[in-house]
Amino acid sequence: MHKIFYFTGSGNSLAIAKRIGEKIGQYKVVKVTSKLDFNKPVKADILGFVFPVYAWGMPVLFKKFLEQIEISKAKYIFVVTNYAGNGGNVLGLFQKLMKKKNINIDAFFEIFMPSNYLVMGDADPQDKAAQIIKNSIPKIEECAQKIYDRKMVPMQKVSFMGKLYTKLIYPLFANYIKRSDKNFFFTELCNGCGICEKVCPVENIILNENKNPVWQNHCEQCHACIHWCPQRAIEFSKKTSNKNRYTHPDVKVSELI
Ligand SMILES: Cc1cc2nc3c(=O)[nH]c(=O)nc-3n(C[C@H](O)[C@H](O)[C@H](O)COP(=O)(O)O)c2cc1C
Ligand code: SF4
Ligand code: SF4
Repeated sequence: MHKIFYFTGSGNSLAIAKRIGEKIGQYKVVKVTSKLDFNKPVKADILGFVFPVYAWGMPVLFKKFLEQIEISKAKYIFVVTNYAGNGGNVLGLFQKLMKKKNINIDAFFEIFMPSNYLVMGDADPQDKAAQIIKNSIPKIEECAQKIYDRKMVPMQKVSFMGKLYTKLIYPLFANYIKRSDKNFFFTELCNGCGICEKVCPVENIILNENKNPVWQNHCEQCHACIHWCPQRAIEFSKKTSNKNRYTHPDVKVSELI
């Protein structure tokens, strides 16, 4: 059995993981959440990791997972990161974490995907996102073929600035998310459906007795609650009103809950 661990906010990483899985066959995708037992030894034929770039680094929970992972058996290991602008030295960071555990990575890939980032930008509008997804398919298929063939794929060279962003800005982001919760609020559009609570990878939302979401102060900034809310009822300070909402069309919310 092949296993692909992924982390996602708006579904891009799961869509990539599934497409690769379909090519290699006999696969299982595993969502990295706070409920996952990080200490359970991992056994797989082909083992994969798929995650989005956050602030030229990676989701903090995913980093914790990599710091704790024990691999008892894997014949071939690959990683795919996906981003909407620049990934900096995220794969260098990934490799460093794996080296500390004496884990050797066989193939490194990066895929350009639609943006889901709202706080200091905007998610891509539907037509632009559709074009980016269309362009991503042959690239993902190419990665999948290389993985299927167990090819060695080295990491691409990273610019000096890319390395600097990862080194300097990612730690600031990791620190910032701890106090980012206070910016969330819901509007009168909320109907208490509970999807935000279920989709959150770190159980950071609880619906109170009035069926209103209450954030619990340990957000990962994955944006899942904002993008998957069917009522468009979640906002983050004044930065998200009138901005796009985006989820990958090949992923259903039911796959994430
Ligand atoms: C908090 C946050 C930070 C992000 N930072 C970056 C970044 O530094 N560089 C980049 O190219 N994209 C960045 N993005 C965009 C995502 O990496 C990109 O849209 C990714 O494909 C989302 O994957 P997902 O749907 O699996 O969550 C960021 C997104 C979020 C939510
Ligand atoms: S997903 Fe949206 S509508 Fe549903 S409970 Fe959460 S905020 Fe309300
Ligand atoms: S509260 Fe929202 S943005 Fe924060 S981790 Fe949960 S789903 Fe992601």
